[in-house]
Amino acid sequence: MEKIQLMNVGRQHQTYREEYEEAVINVLRSGQYIGGKEVESFENEFALYHGAKYGVSCGNGTDALVLALRAFGIGKGDEVITVAFTFFATAESIAAVGATPVFVDVDEDDYCINVDLIEEKITDKTKAIVPVHFYGHSAHMDKINAIAKKHSLKVICDCAQSAGTTYKGSKQGILGDASCFSFFPTKNLGCDGDGGMVLTDDEKIAKAIRSYKVHGSGADGLATLQDEYKNKGEEFPKDMPIGMNKYYNYLIGYNSRLDALQAALLRKKLTHLDEFVEGRRNNARLYNEALKNTSYITPCEREYTEHSYYLYVLKHENSQEIMEKLKEKGVPCGTYYPVPLHMQGAFWNLGYKEGSLPVTEKLVKTTFAIPVFPELTDEERDYIIKALLECE
Ligand SMILES: Cc1ncc(COP(=O)(O)O)c(C=O)c1O
Repeated sequence: MEKIQLMNVGRQHQTYREEYEEAVINVLRSGQYIGGKEVESFENEFALYHGAKYGVSCGNGTDALVLALRAFGIGKGDEVITVAFTFFATAESIAAVGATPVFVDVDEDDYCINVDLIEEKITDKTKAIVPVHFYGHSAHMDKINAIAKKHSLKVICDCAQSAGTTYKGSKQGILGDASCFSFFPTKNLGCDGDGGMVLTDDEKIAKAIRSYKVHGSGADGLATLQDEYKNKGEEFPKDMPIGMNKYYNYLIGYNSRLDALQAALLRKKLTHLDEFVEGRRNNARLYNEALKNTSYITPCEREYTEHSYYLYVLKHENSQEIMEKLKEKGVPCGTYYPVPLHMQGAFWNLGYKEGSLPVTEKLVKTTFAIPVFPELTDEERDYIIKALLECE
């Protein structure tokens, strides 16, 4: 048996090699590498898959969050509620637009934002909530949306880990005001490089993102700037030079594109996403079964979601010792993520201390992920289960 990897993206390529390579070669031969048919088609197909009206692709999942926050006008002086038990980019994007992340603890069982703790963190500066559908388990969107509605907040979901997750029976793409996806290679839907997408049902937000991602240029940039003036109750300057092409810039934006090669690959991979998720769920089911009467706490799956198992995470009081033993046996494992965001140097100025988020702090010491990618072989999975039982 070859060395087991925690995530093995090369195997998927082997399975669909002809299809994926043909897609890439077609783009190479087309001479259209930025924008064009592949990118547009993928945006439409991904939006359709998730039941969203608009899909705007971009360079990566971090940019997707930044672009969505900017499009909703979130910036300096604003506060955005999110979690600290996530990847750094969730809160980094909030800080990058000039706003302040406000961390709320997570639920001890499903590891998503604890909806009962949100309202106490809302102030007159709060503008949005950024829930993370962590590991592929959906946050409790009905409750989050109800709180957001009551306090007039935007909901921008971090869906980097949840492509293919369902919420109350439907694909969980657009349950808030915008959903931000990452196509990093290891993700449920991963490209062979970097990529991201924002889904929204709001045409104005889609236009703003379309402009911000290309240096604030073109007709979408102009429309967004005109809206800004209107919202401030100010008259649009009559003497401003106006042009619709890409050399007229109306907003300070970014250069953040999904390229045509990645889009062509993602179009192919999207047709298999349900299979990929089913493969992950099948592995999770078999792990759950095998670990039923052991001291491992298997992942919780609330009745409102079908977990897509980007990561399969076990909880155990002795997780650190167990991880050491598993690694000795050749079973890769790791904590996602070992340093919670409120304890990161980059956010130290926010004033959180050890003890500020007790559940998050406990989970980083007691949880660990094991391989769950869909191409894991029966032999590998059986070996992992045997090792887990020996390490308890
Ligand atoms: C929860 C979460 N948010 C955001 C991101 C950022 O995505 P990207 O790496 O594509 O910028 C990631 C990627 O790992 C993530 O896991």
